[in-house]
Amino acid sequence: MQLTKISLQNFRSYEKRTFELGEKTVIVGENGSGKSNLMEAIYMLAVGKSFRADREEEMVKHGENFFQIIGQISQIGQIGQIEITMTEGRKRFLVNGVARRMVDFVGRMPAVCFSPQDMELVTGSPSGRRRYLDFVISQMDREYRRCLISYEKGLRQRNKLLDMIREGLAERSQLFFWDRLLIKNGEYITLKRAEYLTDLAEYDKSVISEARLKQYEIEEVAAAATLVGPHRDDFVVQILNSKSEVPRDVSKYGSRGEQRMAVLGLKRKEISYLGGSPVLLLDDIFSELDHQHREEVMKLVEGYTGQVVITTCDSRIFSVKYPQWICIFLNTP
Ligand SMILES: Nc1ncnc2c1ncn2[C@@H]1O[C@H](COP(=O)(O)OP(=O)(O)OP(=O)(O)O)[C@@H](O)[C@H]1O
Ligand SMILES: [Mg+2]
Repeated sequence: MQLTKISLQNFRSYEKRTFELGEKTVIVGENGSGKSNLMEAIYMLAVGKSFRADREEEMVKHGENFFQIIGQISQIGQIGQIEITMTEGRKRFLVNGVARRMVDFVGRMPAVCFSPQDMELVTGSPSGRRRYLDFVISQMDREYRRCLISYEKGLRQRNKLLDMIREGLAERSQLFFWDRLLIKNGEYITLKRAEYLTDLAEYDKSVISEARLKQYEIEEVAAAATLVGPHRDDFVVQILNSKSEVPRDVSKYGSRGEQRMAVLGLKRKEISYLGGSPVLLLDDIFSELDHQHREEVMKLVEGYTGQVVITTCDSRIFSVKYPQWICIFLNTP
C-alpha cells in the first residue's frame, strides 16, 4: 500500500499543488513553507480528521470556501483514489468517486504520524494520553469503541444523578443501573489499555469495581462526580539512560531529545499494533535530536517495510548519506 500522489486545492497554504511520492520521500523546506500542512493533508486521508486543527474550517485556505485533498493509492498493482473535500464547513469522503461515510473511508490508507504536537504525549496532561490510547485501540477494536461510547455516555448520566442525589432530588439506589453499566464497559476498556501498554509504559489505572465505588460513595455524592474508572487513567513512559540505573519518568526527568525518542517509541508500538505496514509520517522528527539519535531514526526508517514520508528543514543528511530518497523542495511563499 503506497500513496503515490496527492493533490491539494485550497488546503491551508496550498492553492493548487500535486506531489508525487515514492517509497521513501523527504519534504524539505524552511519554516512556514508548508511541510506540516502537507503532512496534515496526508494524515487526513488516513484517519479522516486533522491532527492539529481545533476547528476543521481553519484548513480551508484563507479567502476560499472549500478545500479538496485527492490521494492516489496503489496496492498490489491496483490503483485507487481517495478524496476528502470540505465545503461550507462540511467534510465529504469519496472512494473511487463514490461517497462514503467517514467510518467506511478510514482505514483505506493506514498511517502512523509523528508530529511535533505529539510531544504532549509525554509532557502534557493525562487526558491527552487517554485520548491517544482510545484513538489507537479504537482503530483496531470495534468493541473497545462501543464500550468507550457507552462508558462516556453512562458517566455523564451517573454524574448528573450524583448531583441530583446531592440536591436531594434522587435516591442512591438509582445509581445501581449506572454502576453496572460503567463497570461492565470500564472493565473492558481497562483490560485493553493494559494489554496495549504492556512492555511500553507504566499503566497507572483507576480500576472500576463495585468495591471501589462503594469505597468512594460519600465523596462521589459530595463532588457530584465519579471518582474511579478509566476516565481517570494515565500512563507514564519511562526511560533508562546511561546515567541512571533505574527507569525514570521521561516527562519529569527526560531531556527534550529523550522525550522525542520516547514519543517515537509510542509510535513504533502503534505501528506494530495496527499491523501490516502503515504509511509512516514523521513531521520534523529530527529537531532537537543529536547526530546519534538522528542516525537511530534513519536506521529505523531505512529498515521499515512500508512507505515513509519525512519533513525537515535540513536535507544534508539525505543528500550525503541517503541519496536514494526522493527529495521534494518547498519554496517559502
Ligand atoms: N487556512 C490557511 N490559509 C492560508 N495559509 C495558511 C492556513 N493555515 C496555515 N497557513 C499558513 O501555512 C504556512 C505553512 O505552515 P506549516 O505549518 O506547514 O509550515 P512548516 O513548513 O511546517 O514550518 P515549520 O518548519 O516552522 O514547522 C504558515 O505560514 C501559515 O500561515
Ligand atoms: Mg511544521
